[in-house]
Amino acid sequence: MKQIPYKSFKNKKILCREDLNVPTTYHNGKHTITSLNKFYATQSNLKPLLEAGAQVGILTHFGRPANDGSDQKEYSVEFMVTVLRDLYKVPVTFCSSIQNKTIPFRSKEIILFENVRLNAGETSNDEVLADRYNSMCDVYIFNAFATSHRAHSSTEAIIKIAKEVYLGPLVEYEIKQLDTAMNNPTRPLIAIIGGKKVSTKFDLINNMLNFVDTLIVGGGIANTFLKSNGINIGSSICEDNFLEQSNNLLNNKGKNKIILPIDVITAKSIDSRIGNNVTISKGVANDEMILDIGTQTALHYSSIIKQAKTILWNGPLGVIEKDLFKDGTKVIAQAINKSDAFVIAGGGETVFAIEMFGISNRINYLSTGGGAFLEYLNGTKLPSLKAFEKRKKS
Ligand code: 3PG
Ligand code: MG
Repeated sequence: MKQIPYKSFKNKKILCREDLNVPTTYHNGKHTITSLNKFYATQSNLKPLLEAGAQVGILTHFGRPANDGSDQKEYSVEFMVTVLRDLYKVPVTFCSSIQNKTIPFRSKEIILFENVRLNAGETSNDEVLADRYNSMCDVYIFNAFATSHRAHSSTEAIIKIAKEVYLGPLVEYEIKQLDTAMNNPTRPLIAIIGGKKVSTKFDLINNMLNFVDTLIVGGGIANTFLKSNGINIGSSICEDNFLEQSNNLLNNKGKNKIILPIDVITAKSIDSRIGNNVTISKGVANDEMILDIGTQTALHYSSIIKQAKTILWNGPLGVIEKDLFKDGTKVIAQAINKSDAFVIAGGGETVFAIEMFGISNRINYLSTGGGAFLEYLNGTKLPSLKAFEKRKKS
């Protein structure tokens, strides 16, 4: 990959697509950021730019505004100005519209542009909008790995036409980590896959079976696999239209690789005050649902994790928002914490679990990506990266 010539960017206008789509809570018209991970991840790009004396502009999206003329205040990124100021200790100006006649670019300063998804045409990958982004800068740096699965004006169309374009260091770093896990991992490589729906992760599991040694399953995803094997899962969430495919995967490509729970915690509802530890072979009562992995499963999974040299983790193994059903994921997090494996994790809910159980420092590589992380591991060619590859070749 071509190195970014940061030193030559003095006084140049450098427009950076970052992903500052951070999790927040919103009360009385005010956002409170709950994880700064995505802000920290911009440093490997923005620091060398500011040090070189570049004029830095940042484009980001935030949430998914409807773009139907309804009140968009909640989607403004203006609240991020102070965060950037504190982090980079330089003046940060907010620019509410890219259509303004003068854009106040200044050396060693940052301009934060309004949420790109409030620009007409952004999500439909409009080329006129991409032209406007291009006309504002000398160089475009695409550093938003977490958005590289979206073909939007600031993530795809612009890459095709920018006068000078680079992939940022965060993108390079994330790709390198994922490529190593997929092509050249230190073995055994153990994947831990949780989350609610098998439909959103079926392709992921299918592709992962090509390169992992063992794939541990939990969460709602495990339910569909268990039911496909003839286990009574009671009233647990399950995707019946995936039973055949799941069973096929389990007994062919996934044979001896996919590991399912041997016991589970069940209750009448997620608001229940009591959970029952049920052995899977006995089946779950018709009016009970699976809400966590059981104690024996947690021990079994921990012993597998202990052997791992590389761990890939995506998705909690139970309903961790509820105290009663978070223990399975907690035991797994503790096992990861104790292991000496190289640990890769990604996805919003996984970051939430990692922060909840206080093991952030033990994660060697925490991806900024959710969808992008999963799609990359699916083996999908992501639109931003594809556009960049194509450009390099032409
Ligand atoms: C994310 O948080 O996963 C990325 O910022 C992408 O956001 P999106 O799913 O709204 O495109
Ligand atoms: Mg997403």
